[in-house]
Amino acid sequence: MTGDESLEESGEPRTDGGERSRGSRSSSKLRSDGGAAGADDVALDPWGSSSVSDYRNLFEEFGIEEFDEILPEVPDPHYLLRRGVIFGHRDYRPVAEAMQNDEPFAALSGFMPTGDPHIGHKLVFDEIIWHQQQGADAYGLIADLEAHSARGLTWDEIDEHSRNYLLSLLALGFDPEEGKLYRQSTNREVQDLAFELGAEANFSEFEAIYGFDGETDVSHMQSVVTQMADILYPQLEEPKPTVIPVGPDQDPHVRLARDLAERMRFFKVSKAYASFELDDEERELVADFYDRLEPEEFDDDTLRCVHVADELERTPLEELDVPADTLGSVVQKLTEAGKEPIRPRTRFFNRRATEDAFEALIEAIEGEKRVYESHIDAFDLDLEEAKALATEVEVDNGGYGFLPPSSIYHRFMTGLTGGKMSSSIEASHISLLDDPEEGYDKVKSATTGGRETADKQRELGGKADECPVYELYAYLLAGDDDEFAKEVYDECVGGERLCGGCKEQAAELMREFLADHQEKREEVEDLLEEADIELDSPRRG
Ligand code: TRP
Ligand code: SF4
Repeated sequence: MTGDESLEESGEPRTDGGERSRGSRSSSKLRSDGGAAGADDVALDPWGSSSVSDYRNLFEEFGIEEFDEILPEVPDPHYLLRRGVIFGHRDYRPVAEAMQNDEPFAALSGFMPTGDPHIGHKLVFDEIIWHQQQGADAYGLIADLEAHSARGLTWDEIDEHSRNYLLSLLALGFDPEEGKLYRQSTNREVQDLAFELGAEANFSEFEAIYGFDGETDVSHMQSVVTQMADILYPQLEEPKPTVIPVGPDQDPHVRLARDLAERMRFFKVSKAYASFELDDEERELVADFYDRLEPEEFDDDTLRCVHVADELERTPLEELDVPADTLGSVVQKLTEAGKEPIRPRTRFFNRRATEDAFEALIEAIEGEKRVYESHIDAFDLDLEEAKALATEVEVDNGGYGFLPPSSIYHRFMTGLTGGKMSSSIEASHISLLDDPEEGYDKVKSATTGGRETADKQRELGGKADECPVYELYAYLLAGDDDEFAKEVYDECVGGERLCGGCKEQAAELMREFLADHQEKREEVEDLLEEADIELDSPRRG
């Protein structure tokens, strides 16, 4: 409770935590019907205290894509997707497509067992479970190596917390017979894969991505390659689209995993227009002119490199909308290639294939092809076909064929006391193990987005967008019932709902949720015992 009881009906003013006051969430609205916009003024740090004050930065600065734009392609989306609690993604399309077409795909996330699972973790549990229900091979892993190395927990502590995470995951509906649970420390395949991936990453890179330095211990670094292996583990048997549901603080890991997946590939497949190489920007420019120019307009009905070079030089720079050096390098390459005809093709660049694999690829390419020392050009395959072929040949010849993993990002919940929800601040979060009465009390004492007085609230409406209690409804308490969530929102901002009653209702729902969840946890005890995961670590220290 933050203030005078008498303020209850009118809604007490928010007591903003330091973190929150920095950027507030005015730019990051959670949708009432489902949906949010809205990141950080600090770098994303997996081991720091991530609070996200402006979700838009994540799109602009880090290239995370807005989830809304892909939502229409998701069959029967979960309420967290509909309501914008999941606000962003990287490359989720292949996952959505696999879902639509009933093709194999996977979902995996990991949990550092550093404390009790709380309602923030429930978001991720729900995301894994929902994907499992949509047909994913689902994985839940305990990041015990990370907890030991990066957070210094003892193995006994880790065992205790792990059990609690797993019980909640099962209680919420994870099917351990269809899916897989594991802990990092006992998964030999993950360790072996981590070792292989480690050969593709070096210390400078870790320095740049994670801020590691000479003081960083080696086990912490090992936990990073282990996470890389976790992320690619679902693809060990065969390459498949994989989604990693996480908070945006984990995005550096996702980006590195996507890079490593690419670096492990035998072949790089790209589109080319002539014998020379182009980078992405250069290629786009040539593609654009290739589409624009008609071969009939040139000498022997053939569009040649020089023609495009001439045309580019004739076009004013403003019209091209590319940096001058990109234009310069394209013109140079085209001019040097001279009379060579421009012909679109897909290029398989040999990155790390064995000789046998390279030979097998040459064999497998149908139609016209040209074989060079370290690449092959295919003239009758489109890019997608070419990529699928490269993966197939790689897998048949002893490679992994990893597809870059996809991710989805959920918003961090606001703490009940304002600021960020943190496991280390008791009153700020609700643990899934909290006594239902305690849960009730915490909600009753939460800060709100209410006005100073009931009259003002009726006149101006509450600020649901800045209200941790509204978040509880949207993220959890309203469950699948969008109408209910919308009703709470509309009534609040319309001034019909006052904070006292609103919190009472939320507190009761929370009490009910916790009681129910804890009963389910007891029911799944046996399921956990039977599950194929080691609950007691033999490790010391
Ligand atoms: N680093 C994650 C965390 O801090 C835990 C984790 C380990 C993880 N391996 C993973 C998350 C793989 C997603 C995927 O919570
Ligand atoms: Fe108050 Fe409820 Fe509105 Fe929050 S959602 S400001 S608690 S009425």
